[in-house]
Amino acid sequence: MNYGPLLFLGVFLTLASSWVGLVLVPQIQFGRLEPVKIEETGEIYPMARSGLAEQGRELYRAYGCVYCHSQQVRAEDFGADIQRGWGKRRSVARDYLRDKPVLLGTMRTGPDLTNIGMRQPSVSWHLLHLYDPQMTSAGSIMPPYAFLFDRQKQGLQKSPDALPLSGKFSPDPGYEIIPSPEARALVAYLLSLKSSASLPEVK
Ligand code: HEC
Repeated sequence: MNYGPLLFLGVFLTLASSWVGLVLVPQIQFGRLEPVKIEETGEIYPMARSGLAEQGRELYRAYGCVYCHSQQVRAEDFGADIQRGWGKRRSVARDYLRDKPVLLGTMRTGPDLTNIGMRQPSVSWHLLHLYDPQMTSAGSIMPPYAFLFDRQKQGLQKSPDALPLSGKFSPDPGYEIIPSPEARALVAYLLSLKSSASLPEVK
């Protein structure tokens, strides 16, 4: 007996069913998702990021932050993310509409950053933390990103941008530490991470 046609049909059905499951069904579910207007605030969600924050996103990718930080809050039944204060609601597909590529992350060596812009809105906190995490979070295992800061000779007056460093963190006398444009971009990106707006699909 010639099994050729049967074999062909088997292979065809296998490929077709995976195409339906992996391409067609997700396209039907999410393909037409669009930003929405939030009723309470009148804002469009998700908002496009500023150019500076977009640059920061590229740096976030380049410096490997995604290896230690996720950006996805699990639903209450699937983990303690909401109890930990990582988000006010679970993440949904719409949250990522402006992200190409999406930086979901898989590791949680550090806390989830989906909502860090609301949890920690202070620029100066983020700058100090990036310069040396020990300053804001003693015992942290996050590596310092001191190379994002410039050490410069102090002029007659201290620069208004200089980090307020004291004790063992202070630079040599007569010098000051200034955030580079990259550090500022990275912080602008972190502050843009806010996803607590209530959406039609999740309140
Ligand atoms: C080796 C793993 C690791 C890497 C890489 C890493 N982090 Fe972290 N991060 C941590 C850990 C652990 C903490 C928790 C302790 C702390 O606050 O420092 C943390 C905390 C944070 C926090 C504060 C979160 C909160 O809820 O208070 C921010 C913001 C942050 N990291 C941003 C970054 C950025 C931006 C990068 C890349 C430039 C980065 N991290 C790279 C491990 C990491």
